[in-house]
Amino acid sequence: MAKKILVATGGGDCPGLNAVIRGIVKRAAHEGEDWQVFGCIESFNGILKDNVEIVPLTEETVSGIHVKGGTIIKTTNKGGPFHFPVRQPDGSWKMEDRSQLMKKRFENMGFDAIINIGGDGSQRISLDLLNIGIPVVGVPKTIDNDLSSTDFTFGFQTAVQIATEAVDKLVTTAESHNRVFIMEVMGRDAGWIALHTAIAGGADVCIIPEIPYHPEAIARKIATRYKNGMGFCNIVIAEGAKRVGGDVVGKAPTAVGDQHIKLGGVGDVLKQELLDLGVEHDIRVTVLGHLQRGGTPMAYDRILATEFGVKAFDLVKEKKYGNLVVYRNNSISYVPLEEAVKEPHLVKPDDFLVTTARAVGVAFGDETV
Ligand code: F6P
Repeated sequence: MAKKILVATGGGDCPGLNAVIRGIVKRAAHEGEDWQVFGCIESFNGILKDNVEIVPLTEETVSGIHVKGGTIIKTTNKGGPFHFPVRQPDGSWKMEDRSQLMKKRFENMGFDAIINIGGDGSQRISLDLLNIGIPVVGVPKTIDNDLSSTDFTFGFQTAVQIATEAVDKLVTTAESHNRVFIMEVMGRDAGWIALHTAIAGGADVCIIPEIPYHPEAIARKIATRYKNGMGFCNIVIAEGAKRVGGDVVGKAPTAVGDQHIKLGGVGDVLKQELLDLGVEHDIRVTVLGHLQRGGTPMAYDRILATEFGVKAFDLVKEKKYGNLVVYRNNSISYVPLEEAVKEPHLVKPDDFLVTTARAVGVAFGDETV
């Protein structure tokens, strides 16, 4: 009898997800009739909902999808098998543990393994599923590049490219109007997108969560960028940045099942801090938002995603469950899920990229003079 793999994509979408799906399906097809691949719609909701939504993924289904952003099997960053939101008769929501129901359905439908493509939250779910006896292999995904077990995640380079192109555009208009431009990028608690973008985009200031800033230091850097009122200043700030002694800027989650604070707005906060310090230049703020996650993945991410997909299939074939596919030291390998979710991959203040940025004149807002 053919073996069956269930594929899910969880968490925020990310350029390259479809290339992973295509990699799994095409690799499985090489095994002839022996393997079948199915997609669980909207992460695990497809197998948890009252009306199951699981679709066969064939070579025809995945043909050409490596070019497409998003995920053809949809995703969600809310809920999950252990916290499934269920509407109550009074209109309120209650979180239900549907993990045993999921296990029963998984077994009754004759699945052999799950490949769960997702970030840290999704891989914690992978681990919990493994612990209740569901064979899982994880594939790391995030534009934030904040997973410690892999040198890179697909989607990150595309996000950096999009952000860099945005900086390039902002610079021409900043220069023409002698303005200060603050561009806020994503990344959650990690400053990787901001740091890479700042270097690639020739920023004057880069503000990241790992290096809390003093607004005064930024005001001083801005001053150095102007002569007789002429000049401009290009500031890249990560959404998770905070001033020294301050806290992150964002809103509490409002959607049912969402447990994460929605970061956003630190660019505007910084603008106000600079105005309060008497900076008189025209300051404009651009929040890049989901543009960083949308659209076609660049070649690097398609390649990495395809490698991840192929490796994930091979791990399932070899029954090496409980592992996360990773890219380390220029090769594709795997690590146990427990190790993979232990701690996030954050920028170290003495990282060579930080040193490089400082060496070419990028200020981080921690400078005392
Ligand atoms: O983790 C990816 C990411 O894009 C973060 O950079 C960002 O903070 C978050 O997701 C935004 O999530 P949502 O799309 O749910 O607002």
